[in-house]
Amino acid sequence: MARPNIAVLGAQWGDEGKGKIVDMLTPHFSAVARYQGGHNAGHTVYVGGQKFVLHLIPSGILHPGVMCLIGNGVVIDPQALFKEVDELARLGVDVDGRLLISEKAHIILPYHRELDVLSEARRGERKIGTTSRGIGPAYEDKIGRRGIRVCDVLGDRHALADEVRENVSARNRIIKDSTLDWQPVFDQLVTYGERMRTWVTDVSLYLHRAMQDGRNVMFEGAQATLLDIDHGTYPFVTSSNASVGGICTGLGVPPRAIGGVLGVAKAYTTRVGEGPMPTELNGALADQLRESGQEYGASTGRPRRCGWYDAVVVRYSARINGLDAIALTKLDVLDGLPEVKLCTGYKTASGVLHEFPADLRLIANAEPVYETMAGWSSPTKGMTTFEQLPIEAQRYIRRLEEVSGADCAIISTGSDRRDTIVKRASAVESWLGAAATT
Ligand code: IMP
Repeated sequence: MARPNIAVLGAQWGDEGKGKIVDMLTPHFSAVARYQGGHNAGHTVYVGGQKFVLHLIPSGILHPGVMCLIGNGVVIDPQALFKEVDELARLGVDVDGRLLISEKAHIILPYHRELDVLSEARRGERKIGTTSRGIGPAYEDKIGRRGIRVCDVLGDRHALADEVRENVSARNRIIKDSTLDWQPVFDQLVTYGERMRTWVTDVSLYLHRAMQDGRNVMFEGAQATLLDIDHGTYPFVTSSNASVGGICTGLGVPPRAIGGVLGVAKAYTTRVGEGPMPTELNGALADQLRESGQEYGASTGRPRRCGWYDAVVVRYSARINGLDAIALTKLDVLDGLPEVKLCTGYKTASGVLHEFPADLRLIANAEPVYETMAGWSSPTKGMTTFEQLPIEAQRYIRRLEEVSGADCAIISTGSDRRDTIVKRASAVESWLGAAATT
């Protein structure tokens, strides 16, 4: 029987370490496909001590022979794409013949970045804290039905010229005193199109045929469930569906193509940008987590907000995505803490909440309800079996599983591929066979 197609996606606010998990699972798949977001994502992967930071290209690219696909749900900044391709080539990774881009993906135009910055400035105190990459404005044009797609760039030049002219004049109306000329934008797009041409295909059809041939696919999420435009902490979210629903629309695959869902969650919580984060810590403990977890944005270098593990958040993600299992990352960052805490609810003026609310005002001043557990003094770093872990760490994980509503099938104990535990008889073993645990 063919192995199932699996989704790997973020269960918190992003930066959970999806890159490493995707990277270690990739040898078990024939293709890895991104379904949403853009180069706002930053996936850091360490291979043999070498650091790779990927933004747009699936982390699967580091494995020769694996096809990497960028779906129609992704927004592409061609300049960022070429930069990444060139950087990979410099490090000895050739993408030609292995990278495919959907002809339906929308293009991020240079002025989308400007609009992103402008819109943040206009929001003032209520700013989102975006990555300033033009992601939101590109999706706005897509939903506003005036976006420019990859196939438009490769198609009829007259039609493209009309579209660019219209878009640039719309943008000039938004930005006061702006007189951007459409011609250089058009010329640049044509040049970009030529460089992309050989990578462009019907990604949905490619996946359909691959799956019919019994080849299995990994669906790689970017950002995370709490940053999802519909299910996240709106408006402090990204502009795409990062949760499981985005796979069908963002790649053109049916729901039954998704054979399993793995949610990636850190053993604590982090977030970049603005918006609520009930378990956020301040002071020495937050600094310690930030330093020992190297919690600085892979895309923007911004320091991440740090706090205890929030089981309300992960349980919510488990429900939205139908998580079959969790990949718990960065357990080693908690090594040496005298005690560790899990948040199981939010104490508000109107009682304790156990489900994540839609109205963020309800949790604006909420106090987390914590369970406090003993920490562990001996290191977990680099451990490869559950039984090796200090008993306190085992207890922490077991309790975390109970309150989050999903099994931790994978536990990451360091940044290297090898620093990983795959639990026996877990969902991951059933998807990939015993090979996953060896
Ligand atoms: P945008 O995606 O640049 O529009 O930013 C919207 C929100 O999503 C901001 O809070 C960003 O910090 C956050 N965000 C976007 N991409 C990532 C990511 O890859 N990891 C974590 N946060 C992200």
